[in-house]
Amino acid sequence: MSTITAAITAVGGYVPDYVLSNDILATMVDTNDEWITTRTGIKERRILKEKGKGTSFLAIEAAKDLLTKSNTDPKDIDMVIMATATPDMPVATTGVYVATQIGAVNAFSFDLVAACSSFLFGMSTAAKYIESGRYKKVLLIGADKMSSIIDYTDRTTCIIFGDGAGAVLFEPNDEGLGVQDELLRSDGIGRESLKIDAGGSILPASQETLANKQHYVYQDGKTVFKFAVSNMADVSEKIMKRNNLTGDDIQWLVPHQANKRIIDATSRRMKLPEEKVMMNIHKYGNTTSGTLPLCLVDYESQLKKGDNLVFASFGGGFTWGAVYVKWAYDPK
Ligand code: UT7
Repeated sequence: MSTITAAITAVGGYVPDYVLSNDILATMVDTNDEWITTRTGIKERRILKEKGKGTSFLAIEAAKDLLTKSNTDPKDIDMVIMATATPDMPVATTGVYVATQIGAVNAFSFDLVAACSSFLFGMSTAAKYIESGRYKKVLLIGADKMSSIIDYTDRTTCIIFGDGAGAVLFEPNDEGLGVQDELLRSDGIGRESLKIDAGGSILPASQETLANKQHYVYQDGKTVFKFAVSNMADVSEKIMKRNNLTGDDIQWLVPHQANKRIIDATSRRMKLPEEKVMMNIHKYGNTTSGTLPLCLVDYESQLKKGDNLVFASFGGGFTWGAVYVKWAYDPK
């Protein structure tokens, strides 16, 4: 058994300046602030408007924020894991470009794709590299430019998603802090419920796929909601039980920000009061791979060494899971 644990030692984040509010959306599709707020908890989201800028731009900004705040030399980073569902382009790995742009010249990099669970699965992956003892600094970035795959005439999807990125640094810890346990799951039953039909190897881009709007996200919201509510709560409860944790022992739930009602159902099952639940969905919407690290950025100043955190996510595929972490540092 390895005695090295993988601790999060720094966080960074970035969201674009442009704010797309519910009221602006109501001028674009048949919706209103009241419907969006009560059904999802979202009030506004950020959109990367500038042409020619993709997910890598968001990721680079988040990574730079982390490097500056933690005074980390990018040359010391061993690997960069890029969690994303919206890579800059097919084939050319986005993480490789990001690593080079931030000066992580001694790192190797790859993209990790698991829809809204990309970052959570990336936490597990990063931890394994650290626990092996071979890697000392692993940078995990979660970034998505969801606006690049959203149909802004479809009121069922355009109200939910936003653009954003967050980054965390994993390093070895000899006090037993960091990642303690994980419960990761997937089920291909979800393939038809949340997807983009065209542009992949089954249905390559054509004039027909463009005309049929098959390059946008399609979501069967009700089905995804049903699976998300039960599965996110299930894994969170299970990881608590097998680590002998009660609601009193947990300081924070760090949930994927897809819908406030899904988050509320999970925290209720965990018997956690609202003040122990990280929430920023009202200002960013669902940024897919960005949600978990952006929560850490917003709540970093309230986190104390030794705090018990449960991360939980649910996403397309389906993919879902929970990761139990002991926080490794006091507010800086
Ligand atoms: O992060 C990846 C995983 N994704 C998720 O976890 C998302 C899970 N799903 C959801 O969050 C919810 O299903 C939505 C927020 C997408 C939708 O909420 P809902 O409560 O499931 O609404 P619904 O689809 O059952 O629609 C209810 C009604 C329908 O009208 P009728 O058929 O009852 O007349 C919709 O047409 O609301 C209508 N509707 C809207 N009305 C105003 C759907 N979208 C809108 C809208 N504004 N934007």
